[in-house]
Amino acid sequence: VTRTTLLPGPAVATVVPFALAALLAGAGPAAAGTVGAAGAGDPYFPLEGNGGYDVRHYDLTLGYDTGSGRLDATAVLSARATQRLSRFDLDLKGLKVTGVTVDHVKTSFRRDGQELVVTPRRALARGQAFRIAVAYQGKPGPVTDPDGSPDGWIPTDDGAFVANEPQGAMTWFPSESHPTDKASYDITITVPQGRTAVSNGVLVGRRTVHGHTTFHWRQSEPMAAYLATATVGTFDVESYTTRDGIKVYNAVDPREASAAAPVLKELPSVLAWESKLFGPYPFRAAGSIVDRAPHVGYALETQTRPVYDRAPSLGTLVHENAHQWFGDSVSLTRWQDIWLNEGFATYAEWLYNEQHGGRTAQQTFDALYARPASDDVWSFPPADPGSGAHIFDSPVYDRGAMALHKLRTAVGDATFLRILRTWAAENRGGHGTTAQFTGLAERLSGKHLDALFHTWLDTAGKPSMP
Ligand code: ARG
Ligand code: ZN
Repeated sequence: VTRTTLLPGPAVATVVPFALAALLAGAGPAAAGTVGAAGAGDPYFPLEGNGGYDVRHYDLTLGYDTGSGRLDATAVLSARATQRLSRFDLDLKGLKVTGVTVDHVKTSFRRDGQELVVTPRRALARGQAFRIAVAYQGKPGPVTDPDGSPDGWIPTDDGAFVANEPQGAMTWFPSESHPTDKASYDITITVPQGRTAVSNGVLVGRRTVHGHTTFHWRQSEPMAAYLATATVGTFDVESYTTRDGIKVYNAVDPREASAAAPVLKELPSVLAWESKLFGPYPFRAAGSIVDRAPHVGYALETQTRPVYDRAPSLGTLVHENAHQWFGDSVSLTRWQDIWLNEGFATYAEWLYNEQHGGRTAQQTFDALYARPASDDVWSFPPADPGSGAHIFDSPVYDRGAMALHKLRTAVGDATFLRILRTWAAENRGGHGTTAQFTGLAERLSGKHLDALFHTWLDTAGKPSMP
């Protein structure tokens, strides 16, 4: 209806009855401005997220049959309209939707690629709080990212490895999947008895009935959809509370247990060390999920509880937990700024080595700088990967960390750490951009840093001065 109103001439006559019907129903005449956009407007992933509303809370109830690989689920989203809304989208790819309600009223919907298009009976007023419930089922599987990696719900021999960066959330729940729309979550997963389902935040309930165990996880602090997990497998579980009162829950694939144990044992001291550097740990829960799945090929900083596709190295543990400050608590405003996640987590590894008897950050910098101009690390400037296909390439990680090292040497250690801590504190639970970070660095150091940032973040090729 809303699209038809844009047509000139005779079409208008056919539109009037619809507009009148809508008016009589109390919805007011539909207008193009009331349709929520299909994406949040991120050039790297244009369909990620949606326009017209914000999600406050997700309540996901998932039943996963590890034998057949079938998921039977309900998602209840508590949202608020940011504009008058006659129709809106959710991100969901594959699976079968069996019903949608808005404020408990059955609602019509259709599928359009990776969008679930919902047309509520009555348009929502700007500012109106509303509840969306989606029932869905099917056999979830991953999507392939532009870089070739599997992303989303990745079945394994004993369950599923679930990690969604940058776009996999849509493979297992309907969401507003751009990092600018963060929400709290309740994630309840039922699996066959003997399997463990691990998600984000704190385990608030667990019970076994008739051969099935239900795990209820609660993520109270705001979280981007790509950081949600519901990893299922056969795991050894260990839980304890750190001296700082952080609840730790580690789930480890027994096949990886002996390799993982000495590294996971360091988690409390790694978190304490990172808190000393970056400020208080931003969440009440922490931990690790080690799930053997070598075909995944990466680890992800799933919020509060990173997921590893094999026993992690100490460097990877430091990296994924540094992301809890940089990436998770302080999220991206747009994917182009991914170096704010990866450059920072990589630099945390450099600092960790430096302060634990390994190479100094300067030595790591020098070793990278010694690479020839043809090396991958110089293939593009870190603040401009060009497209979603390159957001996890070496310039983002290594040259991103080099940019931070140049900042550190320009402003001195004390100011550098003050910049990192202030960035984490001021944007805690929110998000930021490269320009906001460089602005903060100039403000706190009182120095003009445009040349430095321009050279290290924005300029193509190997910078001529180390
Ligand atoms: N953010 C992850 C890390 O800690 C990498 C995720 C890679 N994901 C992908 N789809 N390639 O480095
Ligand atoms: Zn990373």
